Amino acid sequence: MITLERVKAHPQTRVFMELADENLGVLGYTEHGVRHGKLVAKMARNIMGELGYSEANCELAAIAGYLHDIGNAINRSSHGQASAFLAYEILKDLGAGYRNIGLVIGAIGNHDESEGEPVSPISAAVIIADKSDVHRSRVRNLKEINFDIHDRVNFAVKRSRVVVNQNSKTISLVLSIDTRISKVMEYFKIFLKRMVGCQKAAHLLKCEFKLTINKTKFL
Ligand SMILES: [Fe+2]
Ligand SMILES: [Fe+2]
Repeated sequence: MITLERVKAHPQTRVFMELADENLGVLGYTEHGVRHGKLVAKMARNIMGELGYSEANCELAAIAGYLHDIGNAINRSSHGQASAFLAYEILKDLGAGYRNIGLVIGAIGNHDESEGEPVSPISAAVIIADKSDVHRSRVRNLKEINFDIHDRVNFAVKRSRVVVNQNSKTISLVLSIDTRISKVMEYFKIFLKRMVGCQKAAHLLKCEFKLTINKTKFL
């Protein structure tokens, strides 16, 4: 069985994930490396697990979550598809079955809201996990928070968590934003499209997406 631990141990994985993050650092993006991959893997696995999906599907969601941004080693533009091709190589090398590879690369190739849609439960879990990783630890250069809205919004987020409630069929993103650093409106300015993506993803998982910021319900 293919596992996240085996994927992590493949020599190509760490090298390319580090290069992906280095490239995005040069381009002025927030952190998109191993920290982000680990967190998205963990969150995607949890979402699937809480909703009662099989252990095998949870593992595939974790793998897709871990590798979803590796394609930034090639180019930021269409990085979802580049990530999918790189993941294909790694998973094939590890002897994964074609169906499992297909489920993972379909999720990876559809994770970015600009060119993807949720196509499967695994894909939906990765979309929600990815979009909910907004946090101050992703900001590389504190000086940038005065000039760059992405850095400012990320830095303003003190706490971000995803709560899945199987009984009420809801997936909630609960954020705590320091409004002295960034107003809530700034969050919506850059995240509205992503929140719509999360709504679609939650629907595919037969749930409703909820968004709470500083104890106010927006969705
Ligand atoms: Fe991405
Ligand atoms: Fe990401």
